Amino acid sequence: MTAPDRAERAERAAAEVDIVVVGSVNADLVVEVPRHPAPGETLTGRDVHLLPGGKGANQAVAAARLGGRVAFVGAVGTDEYAGPATAELERAGVDLTHLRRVPGPTGLAVVTVADGGENAIVVVPGANAEVDAASLDDAAGLWAQASVCVLQLEIPHATVARAAALADDRGARVLLNAAPAAELSPDLLALADPLVVNEHEARLLLGHDLGSPDRATAGLVVLGARSVVITLGPAGAVGRDAGGAWSVPAPQVRARDTTGAGDAFVGALALALARGDRLADAARFATSVAAASVQRLGAQTSYPWRHDPLP
Ligand code: RIB
Repeated sequence: MTAPDRAERAERAAAEVDIVVVGSVNADLVVEVPRHPAPGETLTGRDVHLLPGGKGANQAVAAARLGGRVAFVGAVGTDEYAGPATAELERAGVDLTHLRRVPGPTGLAVVTVADGGENAIVVVPGANAEVDAASLDDAAGLWAQASVCVLQLEIPHATVARAAALADDRGARVLLNAAPAAELSPDLLALADPLVVNEHEARLLLGHDLGSPDRATAGLVVLGARSVVITLGPAGAVGRDAGGAWSVPAPQVRARDTTGAGDAFVGALALALARGDRLADAARFATSVAAASVQRLGAQTSYPWRHDPLP
């Protein structure tokens, strides 16, 4: 993987911002296991790693590694996890002016990764629970610069709703990733352009099985989203916008670790939308970035840089 040199990092830092990500930062404690333990079972893990994570930070790093000018609004704690949790944000050149340090623990995720790449995650929010309306007011200058605002649901939902309203008001496109799965207010859904969900999250919002892709994306638009993308893992993605319904395939690769693949998709999608791509074209690019990410361990540490070849 090719990290940018000092000159490229300085050039990016001096530039304005295309994408604002408001969201979570976690330290991921990743345990490699042959399979996931059953309730009540003790299992011997193979290896353990402390890696940077959090859906918001993952999405910011994904977009920045691909060349996006990204600013991040969020919070870490005052414990020993704050440094490791933000190391890749710094390395990718994300603007951290609005990353607050609040007393207490940094967000922590315990991730088990089984053979075949499937993961199971438990998240303790820590400082992410402190990302509030005041954090957004402090970052007011960013809303006028960015063309895309990326949001997920690992910070208080009231903050997500306020950020979406602010962004929409200032003319930024709201990319809402409704993860982890949760119900959404109609007001928030109505600002999503696109709403990005996986199958599980889509099912919760719809209140029934997806049925055909056409029916599922149409159902989410009926609920109020301006446009929709449903990610389908190795089966690619389906979506719907003003131009109608579409689907894109995913490159077939061998999965080592699927942690953060959805975040790689969202970060890449944000970047492509910020540079003016149509939603379907942006999703095609994002499926390739997500496919690249599952081939390596970890979330941020697995994301491709701008000049890396994609599958
Ligand atoms: O989407 C993957 C992320 O979910 C992990 O990095 C973990 O921190 C949790 O937030």
